[in-house]
Amino acid sequence: MTRSDQDSWDLASSVGATATMVAAARALASEATNPIIDDPFAAPLVRAVGLDFFRRLVDGEVVPEGSEDGERDLQLETDSIAVRTRFFDDFFLNAARDGIRQAVILAAGLDARAYRLSWPPGSVVYEVDQPQVVDFKSTAMSKLGATPTADRRTVSIDLREDWPDASRRSGFDAGQPTSWSAEGLLMYLPPEAQDRLFDSITGLSAPGSRLATEFHGDAGRTMSERARQFNERWAKVGCDIDLSGLFFDGERSDVVDYLTGAGWQVSTRPRRELFADYGLVYPDDEESQLRNIVAVTATLR
Ligand SMILES: C[S@@+](CC[C@H](N)C(=O)[O-])C[C@H]1O[C@@H](n2cnc3c(N)ncnc32)[C@H](O)[C@@H]1O
Repeated sequence: MTRSDQDSWDLASSVGATATMVAAARALASEATNPIIDDPFAAPLVRAVGLDFFRRLVDGEVVPEGSEDGERDLQLETDSIAVRTRFFDDFFLNAARDGIRQAVILAAGLDARAYRLSWPPGSVVYEVDQPQVVDFKSTAMSKLGATPTADRRTVSIDLREDWPDASRRSGFDAGQPTSWSAEGLLMYLPPEAQDRLFDSITGLSAPGSRLATEFHGDAGRTMSERARQFNERWAKVGCDIDLSGLFFDGERSDVVDYLTGAGWQVSTRPRRELFADYGLVYPDDEESQLRNIVAVTATLR
């Protein structure tokens, strides 16, 4: 699978399938003993997409038998998504607690926060993603009888296009503070599109707005290495989805420096510490590139 400037996808193909993969991990994480997240929509949404491997995964039909490594890898992937999900959940809930009533979930995929978080009255949650992704989730959630817990508004557009204008047309109000998330997104954008994304976010943000994302310090070629590791890990448990070629290589801006230069006050939390925050242990001997990811939060001065 290779990428092109105007490529598009649904939830069963290309970058869209990664949203289904992440939702499958959220489904497993929600079933864990002492779960740190609760996403009751993840499993039904994965079943609705219908990709066989992920359907079998959420239905407990994938057992990495005889492979301790496979089991361990699956556990680490599940824990990583659980920690990531919880980090963004807490980010949005803290922003809401502090009075921010407008949230934008960029690259929302099968994220069900607009349906499962306790948003305060008056909250508006925008979800931005490619048209087929947005349409599928909206329809699937209606069929499940799910009701949003905020005023959910969708923006169906590619984030390499003029999504700020599309957001404004959906009612986005740049005059009030916003909480923004870019979760599991940056590596699927070309480096210059990543910069443009943050420029647009900054341009649309009233003072006091907040932003959460993650950043891989060793950008560039390590993204492809990461894809290879993903493939290896999931192939061990029978996954036939090929993630290679989905990432855009090349030097990209350091998110912390870029946001700081744009007027944001930025803080970071290494993956190991984030695991510990939520009572999970990041394996000492873990060699994966994922180890170097940091969780980023920022507030516009
Ligand atoms: C790994 S998934 C993450 C989904 C969601 N944030 C989550 O954590 O469950 C990547 C998501 O990014 C979206 N995405 C990637 N590149 C995009 C683009 N150029 N325009 C719109 N959406 C994009 C995909 O459609 C997909 O939903």
